Amino acid sequence: MLYFFLIGLSLFFGLLIATLLVVFAIRFRRRPGDGIPQPIHGSTPLELVWTIIPFTLGMGIFLWGAWLFFAMSRPPDNAHEVFVVGKQWMWKLQHLEGRREIDELHVPIGQAVKLTMTSEDVIHSFYVPAFRMKADVVPGRYTTAWFQATKVGEYHLFCAEYCGTSHSGMIGRIVVMEPADYQAWLSQTAPGAAGARGPGAAQPASVSPAAAGEALFNQMGCITCHQAQAGALGPSLIGIYGKPVKLQDGSEVVVDDAYLRESILHPTAKIVAGFQPVMPTFQGQLDEEQVLQLIQYIKSLQPPGTGGAAGVAAAPAGAAEPAS
Ligand code: CUA
Repeated sequence: MLYFFLIGLSLFFGLLIATLLVVFAIRFRRRPGDGIPQPIHGSTPLELVWTIIPFTLGMGIFLWGAWLFFAMSRPPDNAHEVFVVGKQWMWKLQHLEGRREIDELHVPIGQAVKLTMTSEDVIHSFYVPAFRMKADVVPGRYTTAWFQATKVGEYHLFCAEYCGTSHSGMIGRIVVMEPADYQAWLSQTAPGAAGARGPGAAQPASVSPAAAGEALFNQMGCITCHQAQAGALGPSLIGIYGKPVKLQDGSEVVVDDAYLRESILHPTAKIVAGFQPVMPTFQGQLDEEQVLQLIQYIKSLQPPGTGGAAGVAAAPAGAAEPAS
């Protein structure tokens, strides 16, 4: 609609100006015997008109565009979450419920899907032309994108950033399914396509990222310092996600994916007030999928009574996958 509005506006003014040009050229042409007319030196009403009208139009387009931009970049709260890790040369995807896929993404129709994406090596770009969606997948940071499929079917997935020898082979498909078919697919325990290759095959499909993250949390020894009781070496992580936290230098940050990722890989970058910079880095010991799993686990840690960690408590222990 905005696009058509812009075209309509351009057409309207283009035609108006062209028409007036011709009309005025004829109407005000110089006739024999005409003298030189008096030049006009300023007209406040005219100045006001040609300032206010373009200003209103320009601001209207800006506000409309800004509103669309926010709608485009902010996934709805009820969006289905999928984690994407790009690596030379494949797409590794994991649903919040645990189901893993490689070079394939199954989604239900009519449901917003939020992608949290990062790369294991170089810049890739997640590109689904049919959804008019393309977003860079960058090592060292998270980018998010979302879409809502409106038609059942299979759609091309491309890597749209040259990433080395097999860049052109870094392709896949998005499978849009009816909700019932999707539920059936999601509950299958022996994935054929998803488990066919890659380290994902080693992990049962039912293990959610949060449960895998909990196992890692124990296995990597995070739990030694990050305890809820007083005197612990590290801050408690219960209920911190999405909340502001005070840092040593007096500033405040909101605990989000990027902050948690930084704190795991570069622990001294931001020190929580009241704690010492004693945490070792986990750079090189965790791959991007494992960092995402740890973040999902921390996200699931809610104070008792809010019910956030219920799914985690019931998850099987020792579910960590081998490093890839
Ligand atoms: Cu990945 Cu091109």
